[in-house]
Amino acid sequence: MTTGRAVILGASSGLGAHVARRLAEEGWSVTGTGRRPRTDTDLPDEVRYLRSDLTDDEHLRELGAHLRKVDPDLVVHSVVTYGGDMATPRSVEDLGAMFRTNAIAPFVLIRDYLAGLPAARACSCVIVNSDSIYHANDTSAEYAATKAALRVLTAGLASACRGRRSSVSTLALGPLADPRKLAELTAIAERRRIPAEEVARIFLARLNPSLVITELIDLEACLRSVLHVVSLGPTANGMVIKLDGGSSGSLV
Ligand SMILES: NC(=O)c1ccc[n+]([C@@H]2O[C@H](COP(=O)([O-])OP(=O)(O)OC[C@H]3O[C@@H](n4cnc5c(N)ncnc54)[C@H](OP(=O)(O)O)[C@@H]3O)[C@@H](O)[C@H]2O)c1
Repeated sequence: MTTGRAVILGASSGLGAHVARRLAEEGWSVTGTGRRPRTDTDLPDEVRYLRSDLTDDEHLRELGAHLRKVDPDLVVHSVVTYGGDMATPRSVEDLGAMFRTNAIAPFVLIRDYLAGLPAARACSCVIVNSDSIYHANDTSAEYAATKAALRVLTAGLASACRGRRSSVSTLALGPLADPRKLAELTAIAERRRIPAEEVARIFLARLNPSLVITELIDLEACLRSVLHVVSLGPTANGMVIKLDGGSSGSLV
């Protein structure tokens, strides 16, 4: 299949916005979700938009009903919270909300959606994850822990898909060339009067000494990876695509 119906969770910014926009350009019928109003997104008119907060029980139920109504061929989970200000220690409630947003709510949503699908119906679910799970430190550990939980829950979803037409796979990413990061690096480059590429190289070297990439990961490479998963159908079940510049090894 080259086109179909797609639901992109977390489509109001960053990677999710790119995937939603590009799929629509490729002829897919796309619904994107996010918390902010549609007017605060750059999504084109072709992408339908649903405001939905995964920390809200009612919204989660509505999103589940919406998934069943759309009956998508592709679901991409690109929702994330990085947890806000790192300087203030997070409370139990804040950490609970991070785990719920990044791992628990999408897990329940996709688990229940797939459980209601006939075994012969195909749906490719791509769960976006992060190389942060391999090199957590004092500032990233809490975020990384939510992504590690998501990774394990994703393995459970894939296991439940065995013998069915649907697939659940992981897109494990290193630092992305998202608009926010590009703007920050460009501002630093202008202040220091050095090329933006040089700033990116310094940023990547400091972020993770194991990274072998010297450029941020292109959002278009992520889109192509998603389409590759779709093209593989049920063969992609359990698959992990790592686009992280070789920063990690065996823990997938
Ligand atoms: N950016 C990177 O360098 C990088 C590196 C490795 C992996 N990743 C992974 O790539 C994925 C996308 O990251 P990104 O940086 O592109 O994300 P982003 O720009 O921060 O976008 C996050 C999306 O999640 C939505 N969201 C946040 N909290 C939500 C909630 N409670 N309920 C519903 N939606 C919520 C946001 O909606 P609103 O903004 O409208 O609230 C937005 O659409 C994530 O899985 C991330 O872990 C990113």
